[in-house]
Amino acid sequence: MPEKKNAGNVRLDRFLSNQLAISRNDAKELIKKRLVTVNGETAKLFDMKISPETDIVASEGNNVVYREHIYIMLNKPAGVVCATKDRLSDTVLELIPPELRRSGLFPAGRLDKDTTGFVLITDDGGFAHDILSPKKHVEKRYFAVLEKPAQAGDVKAFADGLVIDGGEKCLPAKLELTENPREVFITLHEGMFHQVKRMAEAVGNKVVSLKRVSIGKLNLDENLAEGQCREIMHKEFEKIYAKT
Ligand code: URA
Repeated sequence: MPEKKNAGNVRLDRFLSNQLAISRNDAKELIKKRLVTVNGETAKLFDMKISPETDIVASEGNNVVYREHIYIMLNKPAGVVCATKDRLSDTVLELIPPELRRSGLFPAGRLDKDTTGFVLITDDGGFAHDILSPKKHVEKRYFAVLEKPAQAGDVKAFADGLVIDGGEKCLPAKLELTENPREVFITLHEGMFHQVKRMAEAVGNKVVSLKRVSIGKLNLDENLAEGQCREIMHKEFEKIYAKT
């Protein structure tokens, strides 16, 4: 997990709003109703300074467990969009249960609306930048069902770096064939718009369905049904940065 900064002193209403993903007004309301305690004492001031690392804050009798950042693995179903807001469709954020919600969450990288699988949701901008930057070489692996059988020459074409429509040159990518010639795994180190679909088209094929199965060497948890999510555990972070 990325290093923790020393959080310093933080206003109580801000802390509650951030950790519980509630508005600052709702946080003030909890304090006003005497429902918040700090180290066992009822808090009276909205702007009381607390130290998130050492003070024990409770709201409505439940301890508010402090984490500077949160990292969530979601198995995205088709039909929801990777955005924080959308006028027409549900977003991946709407699938996050209340206990994992907090302010500032966003999907680190986008899957198309019809793509399923592993989406990492966090409130840590630096970490998201790291895993998305082609310079960091964090690979993303996809399982694709193709319209037509993959050809043996496709493996080399992907490895050489395809030129996709519009003339963009892709970084070398790995195409793995399976027993079913219409089912393949594709590993990328970058994330251009509709990249897998456009790569398939560049070799005269078409993607029928697409699922992201891993980020780095961290696989999507098989126990997560579509639409379910869980926190990423400390020991899993080294897998994200692991290289082949
Ligand atoms: N490539 C695509 O074409 N779509 C995705 O959602 C992800 C990668």
